[in-house]
Amino acid sequence: MSAIRTRGLAKSFRSGLRARSVHALRGIDLDVQEGEIFGFLGPNGAGKTTAIKILTGLIRASAGEAWIGELPVASPESRRRLGFLPEGTFFHEYLTGREFCDMHARLLGIPRAERADRVQQLLIRVGLEKSAAVQIRHYSKGMRQRVGLAQALVGDPALVILDEPMSGLDPVGRREVRDLILGLREQGRTVFFSSHVLADAEMICDQVAVIVAGRVVEAGYLADLLGGQVGGVELVAEGIGEELSAELSRAARRSVAQGARHLFEFSGEDTAEKALDRVREAGGRIASLVPTRRSLEDLVIERSAPETDR
Ligand SMILES: Nc1ncnc2c1ncn2[C@@H]1O[C@H](COP(=O)(O)OP(=O)(O)OP(=O)(O)O)[C@@H](O)[C@H]1O
Ligand SMILES: [Mg+2]
Repeated sequence: MSAIRTRGLAKSFRSGLRARSVHALRGIDLDVQEGEIFGFLGPNGAGKTTAIKILTGLIRASAGEAWIGELPVASPESRRRLGFLPEGTFFHEYLTGREFCDMHARLLGIPRAERADRVQQLLIRVGLEKSAAVQIRHYSKGMRQRVGLAQALVGDPALVILDEPMSGLDPVGRREVRDLILGLREQGRTVFFSSHVLADAEMICDQVAVIVAGRVVEAGYLADLLGGQVGGVELVAEGIGEELSAELSRAARRSVAQGARHLFEFSGEDTAEKALDRVREAGGRIASLVPTRRSLEDLVIERSAPETDR
């Protein structure tokens, strides 16, 4: 069953005095399956937040349709089904982490008897139990992101939508958020999150969709997209003469010389093997030989290349 489905979703904004139309979304189709982590990726201004606002019922689409489960996005029941972390979350700075979560629990109509316990469990889950009584204005960026996540989970939602949950975090903070997202999937929840950092998605997502200028340019299961394909082979050789170095550079797609060490990156295994033979024949030494895996970034760069290149 789809947790989120969109068909031809489009949104234009009229902005400025001359009411020029900005086409933020130009017809996107998404299929997010239940229990998956779905990465919604794209550069700044691609339309990620616009799509998320439509999914969470904050704004209406100009065209197309979207469903949360079997419910149309604008319906109140669909909103009740999801937890949401907005981009650059606005916090009530003078509330403590606990008060902030409790407020959201009250807004969701969770009875008083259950509230304290539920909030406490969430604060433990996001690692804020020790700072629960501290006002949010004293929180670091990472702690803010985590209290925002706790807030998104207050209603025990089956679907969690997070807009840029890792933005502005240092590597440790990013890992904490990644681990939290993985934990949500383990509990059987569906997580849909946006990011402009492809590497964040590559580590945890089942499926991704990459949008550029309001259009999906790449979508599918990461395993299929990157599918064990070896991106290339990187060979580091030592003790080879200039002539051989020049020959191998011509066959390589990238080469770097550093003192006696020469690094070559070959596109295919065949070329790499030939190069290996040549180095051995010439009495050189192989310092290392490693396959370079194709990354989501390579794929997106390929897909965004001008049509004539394909
Ligand atoms: N309310 C609005 N009025 C006019 N234009 C808007 C409005 N909201 C968004 N846009 C425009 O729509 C486009 C997509 O914006 P959106 O915020 O969805 O991008 P994004 O992918 O979330 O970017 P970021 O990574 O910077 O958060 C941008 O060109 C933006 O300027
Ligand atoms: Mg955004």
